[in-house]
Order: sequence, then C-alpha cells, then structure tokens
Amino acid sequence: MTDPEAASPPTSPQPRRVFVIGATGTIGQATARALLRRGHDVTCFVRPRAGVGGRLDNGASARLLAGATVRFGDVRDAGSLARDGIRGERFDALVSCLASRTGAPRDAWAVEHRAQVNAIAAARAAGATQAVLLSAICVQKPLLEFQKAKLAAERALVESGLAYSIVRPTAFFKSLSGQLGRLRRGKPYLLFGDGALTACKPISDDDLAAYIADCLDRDERRNRILPIGGPGDAITPRQQGERLFELLGLEPRFREVSPRVLDAIIGVLAALGRVVPALADKAEFARIGRYYATESMLVLDPHTGRYDAAATPSTGSDTLFDYYARLVRGEESAERGDHAVF
Ligand SMILES: NC(=O)c1ccc[n+]([C@@H]2O[C@H](COP(=O)([O-])OP(=O)(O)OC[C@H]3O[C@@H](n4cnc5c(N)ncnc54)[C@H](OP(=O)(O)O)[C@@H]3O)[C@@H](O)[C@H]2O)c1
Repeated sequence: MTDPEAASPPTSPQPRRVFVIGATGTIGQATARALLRRGHDVTCFVRPRAGVGGRLDNGASARLLAGATVRFGDVRDAGSLARDGIRGERFDALVSCLASRTGAPRDAWAVEHRAQVNAIAAARAAGATQAVLLSAICVQKPLLEFQKAKLAAERALVESGLAYSIVRPTAFFKSLSGQLGRLRRGKPYLLFGDGALTACKPISDDDLAAYIADCLDRDERRNRILPIGGPGDAITPRQQGERLFELLGLEPRFREVSPRVLDAIIGVLAALGRVVPALADKAEFARIGRYYATESMLVLDPHTGRYDAAATPSTGSDTLFDYYARLVRGEESAERGDHAVF
C-alpha cells in the first residue's frame, strides 16, 4: 500500500488523547495509523473477535493497531463502553470509523446509530470536546436502512454539543475492485445499463484517513458536514472495466445488465421476507446493490437533483488506476469485507 505520508509524517500542533471506535475496519486501521503519526495518544476500543469474519483475536488486534492502546468490549453496550473502554479516564476527542459490516437493518441500527450515540455520550462524559464521525456521501439520498441509521447518528452528534466533523466520503478503492478475479478467469466485466449511469471520485484509505485525522486540527473542518472524494476526474464503471482490461493486457468484454433485474429480485425477496425474516435482509442487500448500480457517489445538487462531479471536493494523491496497477502486479490485495456490494 502506498502511503503519501510515510516519508514525512506531519505532527499535530496540539496532540490529544483520542478514543477511536471502528479501528479494526479498513478506514479505521488507516485512521489509527494517521492519528499516531500526528503524535496523538490513541486508545482503540474493539470487540474481542474483530476483523472480517471475526478472525482477529485480542493479540492480533493489538498487533494490527501497534502504537495504540487497545481495549476490548462491546461498543453497543453503554456499560461496557464506560467500564472497558473509557475506564474513568479523560479523553479529548472521539473518532468513529464504526460501521455495520453487513448493512442488514437490525445491525445497521444497532451499530451505525445506537453504538454511535453511546460512544458520543461516553466521550462527552470523559471530557471530550470534539468528535469526527466517518459517514458516507450516499446519506444525502437516504433510501436504505443503514443510511437512515447513519443520518440519525449524524443528527445525534450535531445536537450533542461536541464540536463535530462529519466526513462523507465517496467510494473506496476496495469497493471498486471486486471484478478483477472475474476478468482474470476470462469472464466479461459486468455493467449496469451502459456502464455510464453512475460515476464516483474514488478515495484511497490513506488519503481518507489523513483527511479524518486532520479534522482534529483544522478549524475550517469544525462543525461541518464534509463530502470528500479522491483526486482527478469522476470515473464511470465502464472506465474502471476498460482500465482493468488494459492493465491485464486483455481484449475488453462487457456484459450489460438492466437494473430492472435487481427490481425483480427485490420484489420477490421482499414478498418472501414477510414470511421468512432472513429473506427480508436479503431483500435489503439487493436494494443496496441496486442503489450503488444506479446512484453516483458524488455531491447531489439539491436544486437540480443531479450529481455534480465539479462540486465534489477532492483530497490526496492516490488514484484508483494506480491502485489497479498495483493490484494487477500483485503489490496490493483488496480485503473486500463481509458486505462486498459496498
Ligand atoms: N465502501 C465504500 O465505498 C464506502 C464509501 C463511502 C463511505 N463508506 C462508509 O465508510 C464506513 C467505514 O467503512 P469501512 O470499509 O472502513 O468499514 P469496515 O471495514 O466494514 O469496518 C467497520 C468497523 O466497524 C466495526 N464494527 C462493526 N460492527 C461492530 C460491532 N457490532 N461491534 C463493534 N465493532 C463493530 C468493525 O469491527 P470488527 O472488525 O470487529 O468487525 C470495524 O472496525 C462505513 O460507514 C461505510 O458506510 C464506505
């Protein structure tokens, strides 16, 4: 992984005690590193079996977050947060990269909302005056349960009295890399519609982590909702496929799928979900898939209802296509997580 800051880590003018939740996730790990590099005193509160599929035990989480203090407990439980996480100590700031790993409605409300609200209250009680919340740009058009839960958490933070930075990133590299294996197996690149229905300005883990960590020191990012993308022009799914074929030295082959196929699947699963609750979750996963097939990860102009690449701010220097090149050369591996539709 290239890290733009590795050579010259910028130190915070005001190093603080920072309580971090969601530190074992993709952006959480990068954010914990970025905070440590800036000289902050970082405490990460993680669950005993963490990581994708719960494959990290306590020792593995501590090694993953080397340099930070790592404490174990249940962030969904206010008692555990106070007893096992805060432990009666003072903290200056909360940084949350917490997110439901599944996106299923119950888990989304428990993690994206309830646990965030618990953490905000625990941080306030511990003396914190500031919080940075990792959210998502897609909450500007909330159609899915996890987006509604995220918005409710955003509102709770705004009303908490803490100085807040709500970071709403565009698409992550890992979420735009899932078809590489298919192409290597000689299969076509799957597109919804003609592959130009949507676009995004992808942002790397380290560029986003740097942006989040810098929220603690940048006055202009205080008490703001901050949509943020990566460098360069917006990229469509067709352009992503074309670049992957080029890097693999293969003739481009695309298969176009109508988003209406997803509507049919959603309809069937939603109907069956009234009888079999597990299928209701599957209907929601299909809705999530449809959302990303048809909505751009760019700033939405409330007046025109159109997505606007030019209005979407950029940060950092790492591009998706450089990342693709590293993936193809085997210098990177993408851990896509439990909810690979994101
Ligand atoms: N993927 C995208 O393109 C994209 C774009 C924009 C915004 N976002 C948003 O960015 C955020 C972070 O994404 P990410 O990819 O870094 O997420 P991730 O890798 O799935 O990490 C989620 C973090 O939350 C923790 N967590 C989840 N459920 C928990 C529970 N019940 N108890 C304790 N901890 C729990 C996980 O801990 P464990 O390790 O213990 O599971 C992990 O640390 C999400 O809100 C996502 O919606 C994503």
